[in-house]
Amino acid sequence: MSNYDFSSSRNSCACHCVKLIVSLGVIALILWLSLRTTKPKCSIGDVYVRGLDKSVNSNNNATRRDKNISFQLNVKNEMKDKSVRYDGIILNFYYGTNTSYPIGNFTFDGFKQGKDKEAFKSGMIETHNMPWDDAIKAVSNGSKAIFRVDVSSRIKYKITFWYTKKHNYFVENKVEIDDTGKSRAQQLHCCFGVFGLTLFVLSFLL
Ligand SMILES: *[C@@H]1O[C@H](CO)[C@@H](O)[C@H](O)[C@H]1NC(C)=O
Ligand SMILES: *[C@@H]1O[C@H](CO)[C@@H](O)[C@H](O)[C@H]1NC(C)=O
Ligand SMILES: *[C@@H]1O[C@H](CO)[C@@H](O)[C@H](O)[C@H]1NC(C)=O
Ligand SMILES: *[C@@H]1O[C@H](CO)[C@@H](O)[C@H](O)[C@H]1NC(C)=O
Ligand SMILES: *[C@@H]1O[C@H](CO)[C@@H](O)[C@H](O)[C@H]1NC(C)=O
Repeated sequence: MSNYDFSSSRNSCACHCVKLIVSLGVIALILWLSLRTTKPKCSIGDVYVRGLDKSVNSNNNATRRDKNISFQLNVKNEMKDKSVRYDGIILNFYYGTNTSYPIGNFTFDGFKQGKDKEAFKSGMIETHNMPWDDAIKAVSNGSKAIFRVDVSSRIKYKITFWYTKKHNYFVENKVEIDDTGKSRAQQLHCCFGVFGLTLFVLSFLL
């Protein structure tokens, strides 16, 4: 009899433990779901390299060539319940897919982006040390001149009343230009610190 009671109370203790663990798990899951963040999307569009536009005759003349590149930065906060605060957004332009040929930089001022918002920002750089001959050769036989644009910033998220700590934001974009001087942008890949669970843990330490 006492044996039976003993095992029964042990069972109910184990049962309580399981319930407690499950409840904690559910609470953790709910917290994680409401605190998790999605990094903003970013792309480089509307690129125009006049110096590669075959309809511009002066491009054959190195001294008269327009060395500028105009572009549009598109950043999109897809979260419906959190806004994002960006520090200055720095763009590093390179000719080719690696960083061997830096050709110019551009910086956009920092700003705050509301929930589920998209921003388009136009800019222009004057290129330096751009290997024009190589690029013109590439587009003139029907292939593409490739540029790489690294977008970097520091961002923080607003979760109801408070901001998270700042995170590094970095997106590497590949831009392909044809002989019209225009592009279609394409994202290579995003790298973005460690997310999700780390943020969840950090949010308790703030
Ligand atoms: C290039 O343009 C400059 C300035 O307009 C001119 O002096 C030069 O003769 C041109 N060169 C060629 C090869 O057309
Ligand atoms: C960068 O790319 C060019 C051409 O694609 C190549 O010749 C060069 O070795 C590369 N540089 C590095 C550091 O990988
Ligand atoms: C562009 O930025 C890079 C890295 O921040 C820097 O090393 C380089 O000197 C800058 N180039 C110009 C032309 O300002
Ligand atoms: C090229 O860009 C520079 C710097 O942004 C600007 O001062 C210049 O007016 C531009 N030139 C042309 C032809 O658009
Ligand atoms: C065009 O030229 C580039 C080098 O400038 C070369 O890599 C590519 O294979 C050429 N494409 C065609 C279709 O000839």
